Amino acid sequence: MRHMRFGQLPDGQAVDLHTIGTAPGPVLELLTLGATVHRLEVTCGDGVRRNVVLGHATVADRLASDAYLGATVGRYANRIAHGRFELAGREVVVGTHDRGNSLHGGPDGFDRRLWEVVSAGADHAALRLVSPDGDQGFPGELTAQVRYEVADGMVRVRHEATTDATTVVNLTNHSYFNLDGDGAGSVDHHLLSLDADAYVPVDPTGIPLGEPVPVDGTPFDFRAAAPIGPAVRSNDPQVVSARGIDHDVLVRGEGLRRAAVLESPATSTRLELWSDQPGLQVYTGNFLDGSLRSSLGKAYRQGDGIALEPQLHPDTPHHPDWPSAVLEPGERYVHVLEWRFD
Ligand code: GAL
Repeated sequence: MRHMRFGQLPDGQAVDLHTIGTAPGPVLELLTLGATVHRLEVTCGDGVRRNVVLGHATVADRLASDAYLGATVGRYANRIAHGRFELAGREVVVGTHDRGNSLHGGPDGFDRRLWEVVSAGADHAALRLVSPDGDQGFPGELTAQVRYEVADGMVRVRHEATTDATTVVNLTNHSYFNLDGDGAGSVDHHLLSLDADAYVPVDPTGIPLGEPVPVDGTPFDFRAAAPIGPAVRSNDPQVVSARGIDHDVLVRGEGLRRAAVLESPATSTRLELWSDQPGLQVYTGNFLDGSLRSSLGKAYRQGDGIALEPQLHPDTPHHPDWPSAVLEPGERYVHVLEWRFD
């Protein structure tokens, strides 16, 4: 493990960058700000080493951005309608900063916090964050840990959390992939396959409308590998309203299993996403509008990356029959995901 100073927060606190892994295997650069994946360099199918995730050049760019590039998002990834819900008999009110809803843990989410490196070696690093009781409105002091490990062409990310009072937890990693390399342009030609037979339609603010529906006959049908471009240009009202895909799909099966495959024919690079979560938010970079810059200074435009975010289904506090995000004292939240490169 190597580390260096990446930058500093406005109050002067240092943001460090830690590197794990060794070429020709994956080499992962992590930031203590947001326990963020800053760069992920892999050997592509054509033999060329490329960074296949989007990232910001500076701390200031990151703090000014609402794209969550590579960040660990929490305490509750995705949306909670109106930022209000009932938990253990009382009403919880959390921060709302996305069209009236809570998104990715509130305005000052885990992606904006300095995480402490609690262990690190050549191939792994573990980062910890203690989120106080009442943080963004969420009850209970939550201790979260994210452990990154690099091995044999893959990266494993293990999220854990414990609490001292009843709360809700839904952590994920928000990396955007471009298998032709960061800043290489659109991923429209990437082939996507999803191990999912149903998806959750949403209202214009991204809140689930009701029950999941079959993907059959919709642009969300990626049961067989298909290019992303035609789906995000479909006239399906769900796609039009979200300006692309920004939807939760129900991953078939249980336990750690394959959830998605992303492949670029241009560089012959293939990524499998494995996850133990019931849902996967598929987000095709719809809000990237040219105003954010890559670590190499290039503008990110719509569709320049795709985020595949394993998690619970969105807005679970309002859907008691969906897998629950509630965490009680004495329990341990665990979420494992893997990025496997051929
Ligand atoms: C996604 C979310 C999108 C958007 C994005 C960040 O996870 O589903 O609607 O908010 O994060 O820009």
